Amino acid sequence: MRPGHPFLLGLLLFLGQAAGDSGDLDFLASTPDSSSFLGFDSGSSFGSSTSPTFLGSKAPPSQSLSNFTGSVDDRGTCQCSVSLPDTTFPADRVERLEFTAHILSQKFEKELSKVKEYVQLISVYEKKLLNLTVRIEVMEKDTISYTELDFELIKLEVKEMEKLIVRLKESFVGSSEIVNQLEVEIRNMTLLVEKLESLDKNNVLAIRREIEALKKKLKECEASKGEGSPATPPPPSPGSCSHGGVVNVSRPAVVQLNWRGFSYKYGAWGRDYSPQHPGKGLYWVAPLNTDARLLEYYRLHNTLDDLLLYAYARQNRITYGQGSGTAVYKNNMYVNWYNTRNIAKINLTTNTVAVTKTLPGAAYNNRFSYANVAWQDIDLAVDEHGLWVIYSTEASTGNMVISKLNDTTLEVLNTWYTKQYKPSASNAFVVCGVLYATRTLNTRTEEIFYYYDTNTGKEGKLDITIHKMQENMQSINYHPFDQKLYVYNDGYLLNYDLIFLQEPQEAV
Ligand SMILES: *[C@@H]1O[C@H](CO)[C@@H](O)[C@H](O)[C@H]1NC(C)=O
Ligand SMILES: *[C@@H]1O[C@H](CO)[C@@H](O)[C@H](O)[C@H]1NC(C)=O
Ligand SMILES: *[C@@H]1O[C@H](CO)[C@@H](O)[C@H](O)[C@H]1NC(C)=O
Ligand SMILES: *[C@@H]1O[C@H](CO)[C@@H](O)[C@H](O)[C@H]1NC(C)=O
Ligand SMILES: *[C@@H]1O[C@H](CO)[C@@H](O)[C@H](O)[C@H]1NC(C)=O
Ligand SMILES: *[C@@H]1O[C@H](CO)[C@@H](O)[C@H](O)[C@H]1NC(C)=O
Repeated sequence: MRPGHPFLLGLLLFLGQAAGDSGDLDFLASTPDSSSFLGFDSGSSFGSSTSPTFLGSKAPPSQSLSNFTGSVDDRGTCQCSVSLPDTTFPADRVERLEFTAHILSQKFEKELSKVKEYVQLISVYEKKLLNLTVRIEVMEKDTISYTELDFELIKLEVKEMEKLIVRLKESFVGSSEIVNQLEVEIRNMTLLVEKLESLDKNNVLAIRREIEALKKKLKECEASKGEGSPATPPPPSPGSCSHGGVVNVSRPAVVQLNWRGFSYKYGAWGRDYSPQHPGKGLYWVAPLNTDARLLEYYRLHNTLDDLLLYAYARQNRITYGQGSGTAVYKNNMYVNWYNTRNIAKINLTTNTVAVTKTLPGAAYNNRFSYANVAWQDIDLAVDEHGLWVIYSTEASTGNMVISKLNDTTLEVLNTWYTKQYKPSASNAFVVCGVLYATRTLNTRTEEIFYYYDTNTGKEGKLDITIHKMQENMQSINYHPFDQKLYVYNDGYLLNYDLIFLQEPQEAV
């Protein structure tokens, strides 16, 4: 080694790297303890190597260093010499080096302070997680078994809240402290979900509760925002038809993924309605098999909480259900009988067929199903007045036909013929004797575009937007007491609040 220059050699090597791309800078700054900080690996390239190409692979020599020779002497000591033209001492480069080193140290300081911040955050999370662990242990002792857990839908829901908060923020002028506060909480929630996703696959219920609490706050916040402007009148009493029809639909609440999993994109869900016990109905979830046709298994849940926990009162099997036109009324399930135009009535207590009946003239087996939804030529529906069926016939040339059924005998009591072609609607439901049909606007929105009022025989156009999480509304079931729509959205169970026109109105 030519004496006098080892320092310079080190500097130039360093310069060779530091002057490279800026990505190197970040790397160096964030890993201060890495041996590569000074640009060379002290162990492997120097001294121990017997190869004359000791500068070869680890640190490519900069151009000014290309003029060197290396050799190994008799004792195996590696020797090398580098000639540096004395006249061209790179003062300018050293200057640049000093400058770069300064920048580097600044960057390093910055990164270090970030690291300190993270360390603090992590200790906060550690505490939170410890707490959660305790809660999970408690839950485990309850011996409830959780099957499908879906953080995706929680994330979707949190995202929805984030959107809402952004909108709220825009509409709040001046005092937005409470909104900011909520925003922080929602962001915390996002973080919590992410953390939990990697660590805790079981604590869905706890998160759900927190989400519910946040939602409540959001609602209150929105309500307080509305103060001053005319107060929204109370909704019509549950099960009542003293209103002027559906005028709007809330944003969706994601309840959960269906119990059979992501691949079960087709099906239906809802809540039993009985005028005698309007608020007591059990919840039912009926995903079709993956052939999109056979309804084989369904579950009954006593409460919504049970449903959220995938805890079911009964899981039943039938072998003859077709499509997702299913409806449940007075503890009986009504389905289209596989490969026929028949309707079956199933006693949910015994899972036995109480009645089967042919629906006269009804088209079936995909003759006139809905747009993007197969095997739903015969769609059963429940409203305040009872059991309905929406279908088409050859005589109606594929236009929707609505029949009121006797729910005991399945006899047709009355029939109405619409001017709406059934296959161009994506789904339909009945509220207070009025049929509402939807169509797809795009992958994220659906529209209630048509109504037929069996009370008056009038029909017409509507434009009520429905937001959705996934592409296809496989089924829509209305519940008169909850005044909600239960939607099976490609495997996700959603529900929506309906908003009614306040005063009874002669049909438009
Ligand atoms: C290498 O050194 C020799 C003399 O030691 C000189 O003639 C030659 O120009 C140098 N080459 C480079 C690329 O600097
Ligand atoms: C743990 O969680 C419970 C319930 O949410 C809460 O009341 C308690 O304050 C938490 N404890 C700590 C140390 O965060
Ligand atoms: C949100 O999280 C931060 C950091 O963990 C914490 O300081 C803050 O108090 C949390 N805010 C709320 C409202 O929970
Ligand atoms: C329907 O409700 C949404 C909010 O849920 C609102 O933004 C929209 O303006 C409402 N539309 C009508 C026609 O009232
Ligand atoms: C279902 O069957 C059970 C047992 O036979 C009977 O008690 C019940 O009344 C039936 N339910 C309905 C809604 O028909
Ligand atoms: C339905 O049929 C049953 C049995 O025949 C009868 O008792 C009942 O009155 C019918 N209901 C209606 C609304 O026609």
